[in-house]
Amino acid sequence: MIRRAPDTITADARKPGYGGKIARHRQSHTFDTKPTARPPMVLTLTDTSPYDICVRNGTQRNERDLSGLSDQRSCYREVRPMITDAFDRPLRDLRVSVTDRCNFRCTYCMPRDVFGADHPFLPREALLTFEEITRLASLFAALGVRKIRLTGGEPLLRTNLERLIESLSEIPGIEDIALTTNGSLLSAQMAHRLKTAGLRRVTVSLDSLDDQVFQSMNDVSFPVHRVLDAIQAAASAGLAPVKINMVVKRGVNEDSIIPMARYFRGTGHIVRFIEFMDVGTANGWRLDEVVSAAEMVSVISREWPLSPIPPERPGEVAARYRYADNLGEIGVISAVTHAFCDSCNRARLSSEGKLFTCLFGSEGFDLRRRLRDGANDGELLQVLSGIWSKRRDRYSELRSQAGKNSKKVEMFHIGG
Ligand code: GTP
Ligand code: 5AD
Ligand code: SF4
Ligand code: SF4
Repeated sequence: MIRRAPDTITADARKPGYGGKIARHRQSHTFDTKPTARPPMVLTLTDTSPYDICVRNGTQRNERDLSGLSDQRSCYREVRPMITDAFDRPLRDLRVSVTDRCNFRCTYCMPRDVFGADHPFLPREALLTFEEITRLASLFAALGVRKIRLTGGEPLLRTNLERLIESLSEIPGIEDIALTTNGSLLSAQMAHRLKTAGLRRVTVSLDSLDDQVFQSMNDVSFPVHRVLDAIQAAASAGLAPVKINMVVKRGVNEDSIIPMARYFRGTGHIVRFIEFMDVGTANGWRLDEVVSAAEMVSVISREWPLSPIPPERPGEVAARYRYADNLGEIGVISAVTHAFCDSCNRARLSSEGKLFTCLFGSEGFDLRRRLRDGANDGELLQVLSGIWSKRRDRYSELRSQAGKNSKKVEMFHIGG
């Protein structure tokens, strides 16, 4: 297992495209082609980790062994955890899909006419094992990842998920483990098990409080009250703050915005209103079905005045607003109208071990093959840092230029 101490980033606030101010002043969706010019990132690393992995030969070293050995020290420096991509974006957030299966058929994600009963999901042996996921996550942590989000499909369909959480929570450097779920399997008992294993937070998807609307969207007749029970179970287990993801589609559930805001105001839970995205190729996305984040904020603030608040951490997806009467906060996710690629620090690992550096990627890099071919940690680190350092993804900023029929991975395959 690789061990690293947390590093200190001093430059975030000054760096256009990453940190403090950018998240609230995102580039409008102008369809330009040139990446924003950025000065090099200045980092101060206060790394006193006793262990490290050498990128040259893959051996694990104890720092005490390195003192006075200049060639080994230089090897040590090469593997400093902070890596940045071609646009100076660090790697901070790893999203791991643990299964491509889901018991819902949300129309914006897994429309039933495309993913019907005969859809070939991955066989068990194709999925990364928990040991494989943990090993990769340790390597990602050595490269700067601090937060892991488990997703699917529906991640709670993967048996004994708490065992994976236990191993992930032991990885030095990982500060936050969260889970995105549809709530269908999140009983009080399950929430308690997940919390005990080391899960910190849960995000539950819920698109409406109106059963007719919600069921037309999940397409498996799943009732609202059971998702509300799951949210309650998560909160009672201390998996807080619970976030609630609501994807808003014009003409489908826009009338549910106000009831959702009203219901969750003052509960401590945070609803995030999400623009319907053109992720994958199956959901029949149309621009006129997108309700913009600006419109959602305006609708809510007519009822309850809102003011913007700064992001909790750099690269946050949601723009945050708090109610003026202090009854909590909401988030809006503007992936279509106001791209946030300039601060994107997220890597995604699909359930069969493909690495995607963008939600809108088409081909992932096959890490499972490398793992099962016997690559050592040093070789894998080199692969990961090589991929990240060349990364130029910014799909949401370029959306209009991407070919209409371009191949894109489905969201349930790599997680939200
Ligand atoms: P926190 O860990 O609480 O910060 O959560 P998060 O903001 O990372 O939230 P979550 O994973 O729940 O993401 C919310 C939604 O934002 C997802 O379901 C997607 O719809 C969208 N989203 C997340 N990451 C990206 C991204 O990198 N690009 C785009 N375009 N959309 C994203
Ligand atoms: N647009 C926006 N968000 C989506 N999700 C899935 N498909 C889409 C889409 N087309 C997100 C939702 C859900 C999570 C699992 O994935 O936020 O809560
Ligand atoms: Fe399943 Fe989530 Fe996709 Fe809905 S959005 S089909 S719950 S993976
Ligand atoms: Fe990141 Fe790609 Fe989403 Fe842009 S479109 S924010 S690069 S995942």
